[in-house]
Amino acid sequence: MNISEVPCTGVLVVEPMGNAGPFLVEAAGRMGLSLHAATHRTIHETYPAALARALAGVCFTDLSDPERAVDDMEAYCRRHGIGAVVACWELLTPLASALAARLGAPGNDPLRARAARNKIAMAEAFRAAGVPAPRGAVAADAEEAFRLAGSGALGWPLVVKPAEQGGSWGVSVVEDPGELAAAVAAATRYAVATPHGLPLDSRVLLQSYVPGEEYSAETVVCDGVAYALPVVRKDTTQGRYRVETGHSCPAGLSAELTAAVQHTAARAALAVGVRNGIAHTELKVPPGTDRPVVIETGARLPGDNICEIVEAATGVREAEAYLRAVTGRPPLVAPTRDEAAAIRFLLPEHAGVLERIVVPEVPGTHSEIHLRPGDTVPEPADSSGRVGHVVARAASPSEARRLADLAVNGTHLKVN
Ligand SMILES: Nc1ncnc2c1ncn2[C@@H]1O[C@H](COP(=O)(O)OP(=O)(O)OP(=O)(O)O)[C@@H](O)[C@H]1O
Ligand SMILES: [Mg+2]
Repeated sequence: MNISEVPCTGVLVVEPMGNAGPFLVEAAGRMGLSLHAATHRTIHETYPAALARALAGVCFTDLSDPERAVDDMEAYCRRHGIGAVVACWELLTPLASALAARLGAPGNDPLRARAARNKIAMAEAFRAAGVPAPRGAVAADAEEAFRLAGSGALGWPLVVKPAEQGGSWGVSVVEDPGELAAAVAAATRYAVATPHGLPLDSRVLLQSYVPGEEYSAETVVCDGVAYALPVVRKDTTQGRYRVETGHSCPAGLSAELTAAVQHTAARAALAVGVRNGIAHTELKVPPGTDRPVVIETGARLPGDNICEIVEAATGVREAEAYLRAVTGRPPLVAPTRDEAAAIRFLLPEHAGVLERIVVPEVPGTHSEIHLRPGDTVPEPADSSGRVGHVVARAASPSEARRLADLAVNGTHLKVN
């Protein structure tokens, strides 16, 4: 019998460690589903106690060896009667698709899954499907980047980014040719992704720079039918490194533009083969236009506590929607609440050692600190430079942002 024909109560999460893990744990508990993890033994040893406790079981494998991993995970799922698969890490989404296909479980198109992980394949998928996206070119090294950028076809500034990576690692906005070599070096700095040791495509993507405000929107897809989830406004640093400083929901867009963002996000998700799952899509809206441009999509839940922000503002539970889609049930996407929420990240101005951090108590906010005094703080060039975050809830997005800003601006953060 095909596994998808038996009632599914078990779900395998291909690496639940990460921001979306706790949201999946909570949703699975509410839905009466048991969650199992696939991971490396050494990584499992570092799981937060709450995550380790919440798991019904663990499939130990080597996720950097896709053939072995799919064999191990298939055997584990068959042994435990597991009929659903989800992914949390973008780089592991093709593996989740391959496993779902092997099990006959609801999942994404395994032949297109690479396009949800590799930004060069993604650009090709967007072009083929007519999804609005920046113009781009692929370079193997700085010399080729110099030649491609020098042709002027992409204009200036342009964006240099690794073909495969996340968290804004190695992404630079380059103003002139003099900055190109350093940008290519930053984009090619890592040959493998931590912590799983996944080998990365070493090529670099050059993209034309899309001006304007930035947004993200999840799309949940069930049996190929796309359902739009709320739009979230994203704030980033300006300048060479675009590090996310916060998110807020609702995004403050007109109904017309909200629909355009959701529709374009859904097109991006479908273009990279999302059929039973969720996608997190990032888009910019150039000033004076009502045409969103897709920066990227990933066949996974969002990071950055966006699940929390969306639920606090609208009542929509994204992790539950994802679990419903992979267990063959249409997702519940109608907002049940009309409030607002914002998250702001605590970012030090420079790298060093964290000496002290004190976040003031602001009514309507709560904070979480990720690093402890004595920990090393990396350069704030990507999301790994975050020390913690503040979440605010309020009646309006501007008030939620004001409260979160109040807490962040009043924070005493000392890095030596
Ligand atoms: N073509 C572009 N035009 C304008 N800004 C861009 C472009 N590409 C990337 N950016 C900016 O850089 C940020 C990081 O780029 P991108 O999303 O491609 O990388 P990532 O590492 O996958 O990001 P994430 O932090 O979402 O995992 C974007 O959120 C956006 O602010
Ligand atoms: Mg991104």
